[in-house]
Amino acid sequence: ETHTTDFTVDDEVIKKIFRPRNEYSHKGSFGKVGIVGGSYGKIGAAVLSVKAALKSGAGLVFAYSPKCGYDILQTSSPEAMFMEGGKDYIENIDIDKDIVLGIGPGLGTHQKTEESLIRFLKNYSAPLVLDADALNIISKDPSYVDLVPESSIITPHPKEFERLFGKTKDSFERSDLAVQKAIEHKIYIVLKDHHTQVVTPEGNVFYNITGNSGLAKGGSGDILTGILTSLLAQGYSPENAAVLGVWLHGKSADFAAEKHSKESMQPSDVIKELETIFLYIN
Ligand code: APR
Ligand code: MG
Repeated sequence: ETHTTDFTVDDEVIKKIFRPRNEYSHKGSFGKVGIVGGSYGKIGAAVLSVKAALKSGAGLVFAYSPKCGYDILQTSSPEAMFMEGGKDYIENIDIDKDIVLGIGPGLGTHQKTEESLIRFLKNYSAPLVLDADALNIISKDPSYVDLVPESSIITPHPKEFERLFGKTKDSFERSDLAVQKAIEHKIYIVLKDHHTQVVTPEGNVFYNITGNSGLAKGGSGDILTGILTSLLAQGYSPENAAVLGVWLHGKSADFAAEKHSKESMQPSDVIKELETIFLYIN
């Protein structure tokens, strides 16, 4: 048993973390986000992630995607800039060091994408957000997880967690294993579930209580990745970005559910309701 401290994330915790925007600021004050993802047939995942990053305060957002996503991304998210990394899937990741990265939504697991991600991680040391297919790629070889930069945030759902770190018999055992792995690899693990847990490299666990079953739909996770990367780029520490980001995602979903029902609410409604939640915490 490695647990140190458990926290429940309530409004008080969030109000301490949240930093209102400085009026004497410019877009450079709020960081640059790069969402690395998308592949033929999965450009929507990159769109959702990019939109969520834009909607949570980033100064500049880049969509680093294959060429087949160019029209889609430029049309759906005119505020974002496009950077091309391949034709139908990403074959090369080459990005300025001052861009904070969220890698994985809709990325695919093509052999060339895998090679480019591994090559990239071997030469990269800043904290980043890894999700979805980036995690599936890292699961392919036990040595890959050691390439994840210290203080990075990974956001596995239960299946992705299992692929990364192996089977556990229930959510309690999974949580304990996450604590062990977060300490071992000096990373933040966002264990996505009905009540998502943020596990820190110190072995602390933050329990999130926002969110609802209306999030159990394809695309919800891509939004979380956009939010987390955006907060990280704005200068929140990885711990604060993870705790605040997971809370914001769930709270926006709760608001979307009240407005549209858990059945009908869409991940894009969750992005839209971020504005309600920022008004609430400001
Ligand atoms: N209650 C509360 N929150 C929930 C619930 C629930 N019942 N179900 C899901 N969520 C939340 C999770 O906590 C998480 O934040 O919704 C999000 C779902 O994320 P993912 O499981 O990553 O789902 P998805 O958006 O479909 O992922 C997109 O990435 O993980 C891959 O294979 C996946 O291709 C898919 C893509
Ligand atoms: Mg996902």
